[in-house]
Amino acid sequence: MSIIIEPFRIKVVEPIRQTTEEERVEILKNAHYNPFLIKSDDILIDFLTDSGTGAMSDRQWGALMQGDESYAGSRSFFRFESVVKKITGFKHIIPTHQGRAAERILFSIMVQKGDIVPNNTHFDTTRANIEFNDAEAVDLVIPEGKIPELEHPFKGNMDLEKLEELLEKYHDRIPLGMVTITNNSGGGQPVSMENIREVSRLLHKYNMPFFIDACRFAENAYFIKLREKGYENKSVLEIAQEIFSYADGCTMSAKKDGLVNIGGFLAMNDDELAMKARTLLILTEGFPSYGGLAGRDLEALAVGLEEVLNEDYLKYRLRTAEYMGERLLDAGISIIRPTGGHAVYIDAKAFYPHIPPSQFPGQTLVCELYKKGGIRGVEIGSVMFGKKDKETGEEIPAPMELVRLAFPRRVYTQSHFDYAIEKIIETFKDRENAKGMKITWEPPFLRHFTAKFEPVE
Ligand code: F0G
Repeated sequence: MSIIIEPFRIKVVEPIRQTTEEERVEILKNAHYNPFLIKSDDILIDFLTDSGTGAMSDRQWGALMQGDESYAGSRSFFRFESVVKKITGFKHIIPTHQGRAAERILFSIMVQKGDIVPNNTHFDTTRANIEFNDAEAVDLVIPEGKIPELEHPFKGNMDLEKLEELLEKYHDRIPLGMVTITNNSGGGQPVSMENIREVSRLLHKYNMPFFIDACRFAENAYFIKLREKGYENKSVLEIAQEIFSYADGCTMSAKKDGLVNIGGFLAMNDDELAMKARTLLILTEGFPSYGGLAGRDLEALAVGLEEVLNEDYLKYRLRTAEYMGERLLDAGISIIRPTGGHAVYIDAKAFYPHIPPSQFPGQTLVCELYKKGGIRGVEIGSVMFGKKDKETGEEIPAPMELVRLAFPRRVYTQSHFDYAIEKIIETFKDRENAKGMKITWEPPFLRHFTAKFEPVE
């Protein structure tokens, strides 16, 4: 295969401060072995998240200057609205400051105590916003989606049989159904058009609205073009339009496939629901023509949503994760296969077989990657999702011990990736010397952000 180059050249640079391993050992100790507590100036390659960390284009920076900051009826809103309508076809487009703000509004007006909301896999904030309304968030991804080493073209698909069972049994308690594209919590895996069409058919058979969590819709659409029969010759825009045509609305964190650093939206067809959403929006986010954003943010987003559909960009984007995945697999490192759109997920349990889940192998790996290469990833395992037995206080491990390396859009070049790959392999070669971790302090909720650790001696 010929080399796929970054489809851009660099006009502005942001220096990276170089650090030595000795310095990083000290920095890590001072951050209590929790990379969330490390200052970004002390990071060489930041793979913590792909959310809000992308680089804007010259066209986007130019558009910022054209922002209309009028409180009501801003020109920038209409520009943003027309792009979102062109892609999604939805009637009502409601800007929000980020994805979770759209989720909070949607679930506040649609979900009541005791309700159930199915999804392929709820992202943490979606789940939390549903649970905050005393409802239940149910994950129904296909069984293949839970086996890391198993190859399948659409591991993000919803299990249609399970969905139908749930709909039959609990239809009075289900106010809406959702699908997340791509399925972030399951490895950034895509959902097929066929699956989206069937989810839509089933939900509509029971008269239930269907919403899409659309953060990475362009990456998902390009996977459909590459992998699903009948879509090879369609444009990504046409594929995205078809995806949204099956739904009644969507939530969107524009910090991903909006190619901006902040922003989001909620969209829907139902007039009454939109009226309720706008009422709540005014209470907490702002007037419906800006929703917590500046006019200039809406301009940059309108441009970003057009740029993200560029196929040279998407080809390079999906190749990035695939490239790193191939190199790690060649070195004998286990990852979630195939690689998804925005990240590589390393199986830390396989990386460190001598470290039991109770000693957090994923946390060990994020610390070792920082120490060896100044690389920051995130643990998605027993630190993030482990629970404590209510009676004995003993740790109940999470089903998987993963480390996610998520890639900011248009930020790092191939040599940054080659460097990261080299350091991950170096860390793997030294795996026998790595030690497990123990928690020395933790807060009552969402401990992964602030917990303190120490290596086990
Ligand atoms: N839905 C999905 C699938 C997401 O991945 C995220 C954010 C959200 C909703 C919430 O959007 O952050 O704009 O409020 N994911 C980021 C991540 C934080 O690192 O995966 P937000």
